[in-house]
Amino acid sequence: MASLCAVFATLILASVLSQILAANAQPAFGVCYGMQGDNLPSPAEVIKLYKNHNIGTMQLYDPNPEALQALVNSGISVILGTKDEDLHNLASSVEAAKSWIDTHVEPYQGVNIKYIVVGNEVIPGELALCVLPAMQNLRSALSGSSFSSVAMSTAVSGTVLGASYPPSSGAFTEDAKSSLSGILQFLSDTHAPLLINAYPYFAYAADPTHIRLDYAQFTAPGPVARDGDLSYWNLLDAMVDAYYAAMERENFPNVGVVISESGWPSAGNGNFTTPQLALTYNQNFLKKIKAGTGTPKRPDSHLDGNIFVMFNENLKSAGVEQNFGLFYPNGTPVYPIFA
Ligand SMILES: *[C@@H]1O[C@H](CO)[C@@H](O)[C@H](O)[C@H]1NC(C)=O
Repeated sequence: MASLCAVFATLILASVLSQILAANAQPAFGVCYGMQGDNLPSPAEVIKLYKNHNIGTMQLYDPNPEALQALVNSGISVILGTKDEDLHNLASSVEAAKSWIDTHVEPYQGVNIKYIVVGNEVIPGELALCVLPAMQNLRSALSGSSFSSVAMSTAVSGTVLGASYPPSSGAFTEDAKSSLSGILQFLSDTHAPLLINAYPYFAYAADPTHIRLDYAQFTAPGPVARDGDLSYWNLLDAMVDAYYAAMERENFPNVGVVISESGWPSAGNGNFTTPQLALTYNQNFLKKIKAGTGTPKRPDSHLDGNIFVMFNENLKSAGVEQNFGLFYPNGTPVYPIFA
């Protein structure tokens, strides 16, 4: 009897513990809010749409004042981007960063800003060397404020990787490394993740003869690729693990990854882009994020991730770029992702 009680006590303890752990490590799923359309709803209406669909995180590409105002006390976590044209200035001094914070952050007490994204896909490139000093200046500018726990990061795309397949061969290009090594040191010191924009769609669309659709869409019935002891059932995992490998190669095994953008367009490239394919990808991506599973290389590091993007945006370049949206500008879904 005593031992039975002990078993029950242990079971209860284990279940309480797992609930506490689950609450602390709630996987965060978000949607990017792009504004390059001349027919989009007002930011306040957009935030209502996020709430109606229980979308917990919003990625903004610039500190839009109307959006930030509407986000006050909304409970939505925000990943806040800086504009590329501000990077030189932000990199120039702590005072310049402080003035940016005073304008774009301080007035919005009650907005739950998780990360400031210092540069979106600017590495490699002429702005790449601004990123680290801008991150440092913004961090100094925030210290002592009510936003001092906001983490700085930057978002990169696959162009920073010189090798990515097999995932264990993942390595940054020399060009990317010249700015990334300092940034990775900063991320490591501040316990912030690297943000990555990862699109199995583009890999598949570029090479459909070698990349299986089911591998790109999380629908493969079994492992498709093997890398040493690891088996890959989907391309997104392989992409993420290539970043982990590249960071390990630079001696930063402790830096994590957040997927700042992923998605699949519903039109614009023939039968590669149908609402059904976009639904399948995004639904499975969502399922993965919500399940809190990691990747074959780091099964215990759950991934946070954002779907790109909330709306079809008519001012982007014609073709797939205009068709990544989950919603039409009038707020009706392009396909029933949240049904
Ligand atoms: C697109 O159409 C081609 C030609 O009919 C076919 O071979 C291919 O499998 C189709 N792809 C998809 C994703 O449906």
